[in-house]
Amino acid sequence: MLLSSFWIWATYLILGLAAQSTQGILDLVERRLPNHVDDFEFRLLTNWAGNSTKPTNDNYIVSSTTAGKILVEGNSLSALSSGLHRYLTDVVHVDIFWYIGNQLEVGPSTLPALNAALTGSSIVPWRYHFNTVTFSYTAAFWTWEDWELELDWLALRGVNLPLAWVGQEKILVEVFQELGMTDDDLFSYFSGPAFQSWNRFGNIQGSWGGDLPLEWIDNQFEMQKNITKRMVELGMTPVLPCFTGFVPRAISRVLPNATIVNGSDWSGFPAEYTNVTFLEPVDPTFAALQKSFITKQADALGNITHIYTLDQYNENNPYSIDLDYLRNVSYNTWQSLKAVDPDAIWMMQGWLFFSLSSFWTNERIEAYLGGVEDDKDMIVIDLFSETAPQWQRTNSYFGKPWLWCQLHNFGGNLGLYGQIMNVTINPIEALANSSSLVGFGLTMEGQEGNEIMYDLLLDQAWSASPIETATYFSNWVTRRYAGNGPVPSELYIAWEMMRTTVYNNTNSSVQAVTKSIFELTPNITGMFRAGHHSTAITYSPNTLVTAFNLMFNASKTNPELWNNAAYQYDMVDVTRQVFSNSFDQMYRSLVSAYTSSNTSNTTISTLGKNMTSLLTTLDRVLSTNPAFSLSTWLSAARAESTNATLQSFYEYNARNQITLWGPSGEISDYASKSWGGLLNGYYVPRWQMFVSYLLEVPVARYNYTELNSRFLAFELKWQTQGMNGTVQQTVLEQAGGKLQILLEGVVGSSDNVFR
Ligand SMILES: *[C@@H]1O[C@H](CO)[C@@H](O)[C@H](O)[C@H]1NC(C)=O
Ligand SMILES: *[C@@H]1O[C@H](CO)[C@@H](O)[C@H](O)[C@H]1NC(C)=O
Ligand SMILES: *[C@@H]1O[C@H](CO)[C@@H](O)[C@H](O)[C@H]1NC(C)=O
Ligand SMILES: *[C@@H]1O[C@H](CO)[C@@H](O)[C@H](O)[C@H]1NC(C)=O
Ligand SMILES: *[C@@H]1O[C@H](CO)[C@@H](O)[C@H](O)[C@H]1NC(C)=O
Ligand SMILES: *[C@@H]1O[C@H](CO)[C@@H](O)[C@H](O)[C@H]1NC(C)=O
Ligand SMILES: *[C@@H]1O[C@H](CO)[C@@H](O)[C@H](O)[C@H]1NC(C)=O
Ligand SMILES: *[C@@H]1O[C@H](CO)[C@@H](O)[C@H](O)[C@H]1NC(C)=O
Ligand SMILES: *[C@@H]1O[C@H](CO)[C@@H](O)[C@H](O)[C@H]1NC(C)=O
Ligand SMILES: *[C@@H]1O[C@H](CO)[C@@H](O)[C@H](O)[C@H]1NC(C)=O
Ligand SMILES: *[C@@H]1O[C@H](CO)[C@@H](O)[C@H](O)[C@H]1NC(C)=O
Ligand SMILES: *[C@@H]1O[C@H](CO)[C@@H](O)[C@H](O)[C@H]1NC(C)=O
Repeated sequence: MLLSSFWIWATYLILGLAAQSTQGILDLVERRLPNHVDDFEFRLLTNWAGNSTKPTNDNYIVSSTTAGKILVEGNSLSALSSGLHRYLTDVVHVDIFWYIGNQLEVGPSTLPALNAALTGSSIVPWRYHFNTVTFSYTAAFWTWEDWELELDWLALRGVNLPLAWVGQEKILVEVFQELGMTDDDLFSYFSGPAFQSWNRFGNIQGSWGGDLPLEWIDNQFEMQKNITKRMVELGMTPVLPCFTGFVPRAISRVLPNATIVNGSDWSGFPAEYTNVTFLEPVDPTFAALQKSFITKQADALGNITHIYTLDQYNENNPYSIDLDYLRNVSYNTWQSLKAVDPDAIWMMQGWLFFSLSSFWTNERIEAYLGGVEDDKDMIVIDLFSETAPQWQRTNSYFGKPWLWCQLHNFGGNLGLYGQIMNVTINPIEALANSSSLVGFGLTMEGQEGNEIMYDLLLDQAWSASPIETATYFSNWVTRRYAGNGPVPSELYIAWEMMRTTVYNNTNSSVQAVTKSIFELTPNITGMFRAGHHSTAITYSPNTLVTAFNLMFNASKTNPELWNNAAYQYDMVDVTRQVFSNSFDQMYRSLVSAYTSSNTSNTTISTLGKNMTSLLTTLDRVLSTNPAFSLSTWLSAARAESTNATLQSFYEYNARNQITLWGPSGEISDYASKSWGGLLNGYYVPRWQMFVSYLLEVPVARYNYTELNSRFLAFELKWQTQGMNGTVQQTVLEQAGGKLQILLEGVVGSSDNVFR
């Protein structure tokens, strides 16, 4: 049976590639727990790993030795880092977090001994991380330091199958140059630093506002060398790029006989930037380019994986609906991989089967997946399993191994959100019902807040029954706020309230992280949206107000919390959401005043001032934290170069992605952010223009086309406004004291939104 050969393969792969040394884990301890390097011992027990008759899930045992050390034993490096994490989170009550950083050192100087061993076993061999677009929405301007934190976070949470896209353009440049393409051919093809993901997907081509420079490509590839080396040291199997078939238009000059098709239009972009040329896999040059790509990549990075990421129709439809055509495309693509790497496995995102479900009928899916004749040669990512799983309707992708993934976040939007039930119950049900499910993973578009939801699924990969979330949240709160004295009971109560409301969405019309309406171009209708970019919330706003007050009062019990980075982050985050929810009410009042007769201009203008005053206050709160500041994103972009022209280009990219997303607003506000500096600089002016328009034009003559052209003029101007570093307005230091004063001010004011 094919499936048992999958396990043989998985066993072989894990054993075959895992570095036998534990040095990578020792280095992790040295990086994150420098005072405790001598307190741990790691032992790799490869004989534990399943043999060919048994699936290789990971196992660990953590115990105290007579010499007083903590001994972590496991059958893989991932098992060792997971065992270490288990001890640190459950016994020492410390952790490492996104945007807060390493807090593993805040525990007691003498680590607690274990009376009984801690044991753990994963229930799936693979734990996956990243969406192709996370590399643009979140990691576009990451430094090596950012990557190091991310990779340690992943290792400790048991991720062993991370995607690794960074800098792949370097390989493509070499592949295309070998064909005789010129710099002009190439640099009119690549997309800008903040948009590379969609170029890799074949959605877009070219770059607006300037060309992608070689400097960027070279630096990113140097980063990729660091990233993949570290992944391997930590026992992960990187999923690497390969040749997809997307090529510069110049292909028809250098290969006049190549069989090419023009891809379809993506998201309304002008043809210049989309309709990407696709070299048909049936063409013999496809296999030649595949060989060239994979060989060059292995020469540069080593033979570190057999798993390749490859998406040909992500949000773009195939050239033909003919079933043989679809089967031929995938058959030849598969053969091109196998010809270079006989153990190659093709990994693809299954998003298209949801987003273009009218195209992707089961018959067409079966034809396309069927071209890969050996099931074990493919892994399909069920990308949005918590909301829109496709594995049932496709009969587990017609037998292909697949991953159950939580998407959760679109465009790096920032709303508080989670589906604790679906994320714990559904993967366990899937495992019981689908024999080709081989892993769980995280596929967020942007890796932003709501970290507990990501922890939850990765921990679910080590629990055979659905995790009991009440205890889980409580334990998480203990380690979240560790390091500044006792964690007051108010924090536990607040998180428990959020667990059953904010994090327990069961309303299927709200499918993912919400976004605030104040981030959208204002209008008198259409602001409250459902779906996976919902601006509607599914809990009572009062619940969150109560949670805020509890959290705020916790600092009265323990004022040291103001110096706790996690508390600072969460107070800003919850404030952000409470303000956003209040803004919704203000907006409704404004529209209702405008559309009813006899409303005075004064009333409208007062309501408008109230709204902008709320946003201005929120901007100050957000600006106390670098994680919520526009300047963090813009400075990171500028820091990628020392050349002033390129700095401006990178900053333009950074600004454009989070606002207009495209040269003229093709998917405007998709990746909007509640960030200090962006509220005051971008959203507030739009709302002021809106209120002015309402004062100027009675409802009978309301003309959105006219209003929108005013917005666009402003939005376009903002893309390059105050460049050259002059707009770096906000603090870059964590400022707990400032946050405290601001929040005390709001709580004490007459129009306190926390009432
Ligand atoms: C494989 O592992 C199982 C379970 O640990 C064991 O019973 C069996 O003897 C092993 N087979 C071989 C060939 O090592
Ligand atoms: C790669 O890591 C080294 C340290 O090991 C660092 O000096 C270097 O700057 C990193 N490369 C990039 C591109 O950040
Ligand atoms: C392309 O095909 C034509 C006609 O079959 C042939 O004459 C020509 O040599 C081919 N060109 C290349 C570059 O293979
Ligand atoms: C781009 O693709 C769209 C959709 O398939 C099509 O309507 C349009 O004609 C194409 N444009 C060009 C220039 O190929
Ligand atoms: C990778 O493997 C191929 C095929 O076995 C071999 O030719 C090549 O030298 C290896 N590359 C590296 C960098 O080890
Ligand atoms: C939870 O999962 C079920 C089953 O897949 C689905 O019907 C439901 O819509 C999901 N809930 C939400 C809020 O997406
Ligand atoms: C989540 O909401 C559902 C539906 O309203 C409810 O049945 C369930 O008990 C809730 N779970 C929690 C943990 O609050
Ligand atoms: C804005 O509101 C107007 C008036 O209700 C409506 O006709 C128009 O479609 C809306 N535009 C958008 C982009 O939602
Ligand atoms: C509101 O102001 C506009 C111009 O600013 C004016 O035309 C209109 O008459 C005013 N409406 C009322 C009710 O005063
Ligand atoms: C800066 O970059 C621009 C664009 O790539 C280039 O034209 C210029 O020569 C560079 N300036 C310096 C001083 O390197
Ligand atoms: C709305 O404004 C646009 C652009 O200013 C104009 O072309 C159009 O005629 C206006 N529509 C109406 C109904 O006045
Ligand atoms: C202004 O907003 C506050 C909340 O910040 C609210 O209490 C007050 O009623 C609002 N005023 C008006 C005129 O709507």
